Amino acid sequence: MGEIPVIKAALLGAGTVGGGVYEILKRQWEEMPKKLGAFVEIKKILVRDKGKKREGMDSAQFTEEWKEILEDPEIQIVIELMGGIEPARTYLLEALQAGKHVVTANKDLLADYGRELLDMAAEHSCDLMFEAAVAGGIPIIRPLKQCLAANYITEVMGIVNGTTNYILTRMTLDKMEFSDALALALELGYAEADPTADVEGYDAGRKVAIMASIAFNSRVTFGDVFTEGITKITAADIAYADELNMVIKLLGVARNAEDGIEAGVYPMLIPKYHPLASVQDAFNAVFVHGDAVDDAMFLGRGAGRYPTASAVAGDIFEAVRNIQAGSTGRLGCTCYKNLRVKPADETSHCYFLRLQVEDRPGVLAGIASVFGNNNVSIAQVIQKNKRGELAELAVITERVLERHFKDSLLVLGEMSMIKEVSTILRVYA
Ligand code: NAP
Ligand code: HSE
Repeated sequence: MGEIPVIKAALLGAGTVGGGVYEILKRQWEEMPKKLGAFVEIKKILVRDKGKKREGMDSAQFTEEWKEILEDPEIQIVIELMGGIEPARTYLLEALQAGKHVVTANKDLLADYGRELLDMAAEHSCDLMFEAAVAGGIPIIRPLKQCLAANYITEVMGIVNGTTNYILTRMTLDKMEFSDALALALELGYAEADPTADVEGYDAGRKVAIMASIAFNSRVTFGDVFTEGITKITAADIAYADELNMVIKLLGVARNAEDGIEAGVYPMLIPKYHPLASVQDAFNAVFVHGDAVDDAMFLGRGAGRYPTASAVAGDIFEAVRNIQAGSTGRLGCTCYKNLRVKPADETSHCYFLRLQVEDRPGVLAGIASVFGNNNVSIAQVIQKNKRGELAELAVITERVLERHFKDSLLVLGEMSMIKEVSTILRVYA
C-alpha cells in the first residue's frame, strides 16, 4: 500500500459547531484511511479574534486573514461555520472560484443565495454540501437529493427548530407561560441571546426554503415562505389543545400542489396520535411523502455542537471521497423546474379561533353568518368558561381558503358583540 494522501481543509469559524467538527475529525483520524482512502486534516482556522483561547485547538492554526486560506493551494476544502450572509457569501464564492470544495451549515446563506453558490460550484466542478443547514444532525438533504431521488415528492413537513420545540414542550408538560419557557431555553443555551429568528419562525422558514427547493426540484427562497412564530401562544391555548386531545407544534410545511408550491411555518394544532406530537424538547423531525416511498420520517437532534458537527463531518468525508474518486461536482443544483410559489392567501387550512363574546342570544348565529357569507364552513363550535357577561367560544373550521378566513376576521373584528379574538391557529387535517 502506497503512502496515504492527506487532504487539507480550512475551518471558517471555531465556535460551537466549528469546535465540534475539529474534535470529531481528530477522533476519526485512525478510521479515515479505511473510510476515505485518505486523511483529512485541518490546516488553518479563520476566526475574528485569534488571541481568544479555544480549548483543545492549536492556536498556531488560527488566522484572521481569509486570503491566507484562499491563496493556500494546499487547502482543497473550505468548511464555513461562521454564519450570517456576509462575509460568508463572498468567501464561499471566492473559494469555489478558486476550485475549493465547500461544506457549510449556513441556512441563512443557502435560503437566499443557494442558486448563486450552486451555480458557482457547478462552473468549477466543485462540491457544495450543506447537510447541517437543515435539522442539524438529522440526515435530510442527502436523503432528499439521493435516496429519495426517484420519487415525486408532494410534501415535506416537520419540526425543524429545536428552541421553539423545547419552549412548546415546557409549556405543554410543565404548564409554563411562553416568557418563562423562553427564559429557561436561554438559560440552558438552547435559544440564542437574540432568539428572534427562532421564536418568530424565521430559522424554520429558511430550512423550509432549502428542503422545498430540493424536494420539489424548484427554487424556493426564504422570501417565498410564510412565517408565523409562537410568541402569541399562551398557557390557555395549550390547555385548550389538551382538551381537544391535541398539542401545539411549530411546523414547517411545504406542499407541491398542482397550482403551485405552498411553503409556510406556523404553530399548528396536531392530534396527540400524530407521530410529530410526541417529538419533545429540542428534537427535530421531518416527514416526507413521496409517490413511491409513501411516508418516511426522520428524527433526531436538530442542533447542538456534536449533532451538527456530525452532519458537517459527514459532508467533509463525502467531499474527500469525491476528491479521491475524481468525481467532485457530481451532485450539484437539482432545481431544474421553475414552479410557481403560491402566496399565503391562496393556501387552505382548517382554523381554530378562540373568541371572547357577549353572552346573549343571537351572538353565535351572527358569527356563523359572517363565516357563511365568506365561504367559511364551520366544523365545530365549543362554548365554555363563562366570565360574567362574556362567554368563550372556540370555532374550528373545515379546510378553507386563507383569503376567505381573513375576510371573515375583518368583519368579526368590527362586531361589538365580539370583545376579543384571543387565538387563531391552524389545525392539522
Ligand atoms: P458560533 O458559536 O457563534 O461561532 C461562530 C464562529 O465564527 C466563531 O468562531 C467566530 O469567531 C467566527 N466568525 C464569525 N464571523 C466571522 C468573521 N467575519 N470572520 C472570521 N470569523 C468569524 O456559531 P455556531 O453556533 O457554531 O454556528 C455556526 C454555523 O452553524 C451558523 O451558520 C449556524 O446557523 C449553523 N448551525 C448551528 C447550529 C448550532 O446548534 N449551533 C445548528 C445548525 C446550524 P470568534 O470566535 O473569533 O468570534
Ligand atoms: N436555532 C436552531 C434551533 C439551531 O433552535 O433549532 C440552528 O439551526
